[in-house]
Amino acid sequence: MTTTPHSPSPSPAVQLTEHALAYLHSAALRAAALLGVADHLADGPRTAEELAAATGADAGHLRRALRLLATREVFREDTATGAFHLTPAADALRSDAPSSLRDAVVMLTDDPFWRPAGRLADTVRAGRTVFDDIFGAPYFAHLERVPEAGTVFDTGMAGLAESENDPIAAAYEFPATGTVVDVGGGRGGLLRQVLLRNPGLTGILYDQEPVLRHHTLDLPDLTGRWQTAPGDFFTAVPPGADIYLLKRILHDWNDADCLRILRACRTAMTRPGSRLLAIDAVLPQGNSPHPGKTMDVLMMTSLNGRERDEPAFHHLLTEAGLKPGRTLPTESTLSIVEGVVG
Ligand SMILES: C[S@@+](CC[C@H](N)C(=O)[O-])C[C@H]1O[C@@H](n2cnc3c(N)ncnc32)[C@H](O)[C@@H]1O
Repeated sequence: MTTTPHSPSPSPAVQLTEHALAYLHSAALRAAALLGVADHLADGPRTAEELAAATGADAGHLRRALRLLATREVFREDTATGAFHLTPAADALRSDAPSSLRDAVVMLTDDPFWRPAGRLADTVRAGRTVFDDIFGAPYFAHLERVPEAGTVFDTGMAGLAESENDPIAAAYEFPATGTVVDVGGGRGGLLRQVLLRNPGLTGILYDQEPVLRHHTLDLPDLTGRWQTAPGDFFTAVPPGADIYLLKRILHDWNDADCLRILRACRTAMTRPGSRLLAIDAVLPQGNSPHPGKTMDVLMMTSLNGRERDEPAFHHLLTEAGLKPGRTLPTESTLSIVEGVVG
């Protein structure tokens, strides 16, 4: 009988030190995304020297950053040749990969998320984000005031959403005809997939005006079936539609602000049988890992937002005058929680 050598679990000291320095993984990932390293591996493996020449970086330093990422299966170094290879995760960092995550990585590690995260202790003490103290305005107001930050967010958000939009559109049985409003729909990736899958539906993409300028609805298959509408979802939402989508909207806000948004939707839901679909992570109980638990802390540090469990969604819907319906899982990390006009 052969035995495999037993590798003892790391000591608490090693574990905690690794946890404390885990931000360097994020930093190395950001560097690789900004330098476009994955794009230069699309045609095959290359050494750090070749990658450095192609990206305008220092070869020794680039190799060390990539070596760290390789410990998490983002890139792989062939130690015999010194060449770096793409892995499935690194492949998704290519700018032209289907559902590329490059822009999402840049957005998630950009200053509006990165800097408040470093002050989490202050956020936890105060029970509110320190974002406004650092940037002088709340998150979305900052994005409006600083167009470059707004562009990083909008492109990153669209990239993050690209892999989840179609599984979400596929997970729900939409009516054969009628109108769908995507409330805070960003560049329209979800509405696009819903309309492509449901040829009898028309759609309205509702968001702030600068965001709508770069929408992605202009496809030959969708001609004449959509319009954009700029506005503020705290004030009003386009009325009289059959379905209202709110994807990754409620998680940005505290309960009081969510109720303002949901009540604006409820007022707009004048058609009998009109339904609202809150699409967000639905947090499980217990200690098991869930991507929503990480996103929850991000929402807390930069936005005063939160991820919620099913009872919390039902409470908000009920307070806004909607009857909680089904909770449907999707093949993404998000679920669909229905609210119906009672
Ligand atoms: C987290 S993003 C979600 C975007 C999109 N639903 C998705 O899942 O990809 C939040 C969206 O809410 C929009 N938003 C923020 N405040 C808004 C407001 N007061 N009125 C309308 N849209 C707003 C932002 O512009 C952004 O597109």
